[in-house]
Amino acid sequence: MIDVQPTEPAQRRATDGPDAGVSEPACGTAAWWEARYVSGDRPWDTGVVPPEVAALAGSGLLAPGWALDLGCGSCASSCFLAQRGFRVVGIDLAQSALARACRAASAAALPAFFCRGDAADLGFLKLRATCALDIGCFHGLPMDRRPAYVASLAGHLAPGAAYLLYAFEPFRRWEDGAALGVSPAAIAQFAPHFTLCWAQHGRDGDRPSAWYLFRRSGCAGA
Ligand SMILES: C[S@@+](CC[C@H](N)C(=O)[O-])C[C@H]1O[C@@H](n2cnc3c(N)ncnc32)[C@H](O)[C@@H]1O
Repeated sequence: MIDVQPTEPAQRRATDGPDAGVSEPACGTAAWWEARYVSGDRPWDTGVVPPEVAALAGSGLLAPGWALDLGCGSCASSCFLAQRGFRVVGIDLAQSALARACRAASAAALPAFFCRGDAADLGFLKLRATCALDIGCFHGLPMDRRPAYVASLAGHLAPGAAYLLYAFEPFRRWEDGAALGVSPAAIAQFAPHFTLCWAQHGRDGDRPSAWYLFRRSGCAGA
């Protein structure tokens, strides 16, 4: 595993009550995600490969090559794609999730590699993938990081590459009230580099959510 973790944003300090003086990681930082994995507060981490990922992999629409799994977590989908012939790079901020991913992929001798890094800054990767997944990462990015995410992803996908995104629709994070999720305007941000093939709207518990399949547009080298 390589580590290209960017400088951590400021920590938030608890200033009231019994936790006075104790630093808590600011929401959305690497330390915050790591704390969620370590504490077991990770309801998404079921080990189940979403049927939408399995359907895309079995569709015959994907060109062989590299696949990116942005915010890969413990790697269920990364390993699934690696078992189907892709060379996979999983990227995440959380060290302990990546450690588990590495163990699982090496135990099964899969061609999957894991990097601790920021999905909105893929400059450390020198490849163009034919497929990318994002299951629950983009929707948690602050609005000001999203243009960088889209541009960085576009720069690492070959023309025609498939990009499968799963996201909550707009919501407020209960811990800090941040406005997150994905609105039609957020989907429109992909337009310069991507064509939206389809969207499937549904629910995840009490939250509206959706799957989106994009294709990287443009000419080779664009
Ligand atoms: C809701 S979890 C989903 C994990 C995994 N995709 C799955 O389906 O199990 C979101 C993941 O994105 C990671 N993450 C959040 N922001 C990130 C960022 N800027 N760069 C890379 N990973 C990030 C978190 O550490 C976490 O593992």
